[in-house]
Amino acid sequence: MKEDRDKKKLSAYEKAADEGIDPRCIPQKLDGPVPVHDEIVYPDYPESDHEIWKFLYNRQMEFLPGRACDEYIEGAYKLNLSADRIPYLRDLSHVFLENTGWKVARVPGLIHVQDFFGMLRNKIFPSTDYIRGKEELDYTPAPDLFHDIFGHMPLLTNKSFASFYRMFGEAAMNAKGDDRIKLETLHWFTVEFGLIRNTDGMRIYGAGILSSLNEVQHALSDEVEVIDFDPERIVTQEYDVWHLQPILFAIDSFEQLETGFYEWTKKIGLL
Ligand SMILES: [Fe+2]
Repeated sequence: MKEDRDKKKLSAYEKAADEGIDPRCIPQKLDGPVPVHDEIVYPDYPESDHEIWKFLYNRQMEFLPGRACDEYIEGAYKLNLSADRIPYLRDLSHVFLENTGWKVARVPGLIHVQDFFGMLRNKIFPSTDYIRGKEELDYTPAPDLFHDIFGHMPLLTNKSFASFYRMFGEAAMNAKGDDRIKLETLHWFTVEFGLIRNTDGMRIYGAGILSSLNEVQHALSDEVEVIDFDPERIVTQEYDVWHLQPILFAIDSFEQLETGFYEWTKKIGLL
């Protein structure tokens, strides 16, 4: 009984790791400083890695017109992402610094939430620099550079989103227990699986959707129930990291995300 109660307090990621689904989903404790910005070195990728990037980039890009939000497309353009080569984290870091004051750190995989939130608070985005294998082209439960770069990075060139994400790191560092779980749920339904109403209709901004072949085709379909952004409502929503998402939340603008998050975290004493 007590064990069941304790399990409820885990985030969905922790539950997955707890159940031994994939060892790569168990967060690693960083045992020293990680390279940031100009300290990052470009790995000696085999040609097959560049081929995987090219394949994933081209396949995903085909679905993004009319689905990804304008701010994401603008960000991908600013970052100069292309199918040719795996991007250099150091170059991306320079684009962030110019646009929103963020930098990139190279991390070895999924890291502990404390390290993750601490980096966000300091305007540092932790990214992996290795790519999934050929056998995981459609799905990988573990982080890789395709998800981190293609999914997450374009929006970090947007001022309101970047400001929201820095605040998120700060609030999460201040949160404990249930508040921490609430913030992880909010992260899931915004940063990973968020939708936005652009002038032309519903669009995607969540990295978990934009970097996934199945989610990008599913997220705007009739099978998904879309609920208006409201932090208090979002944090009560259950989710499952292993299946297509049946419920998503939509913001009206990134300014709404920034302001709504600020007001909610202020109210519950996390900022
Ligand atoms: Fe992610």
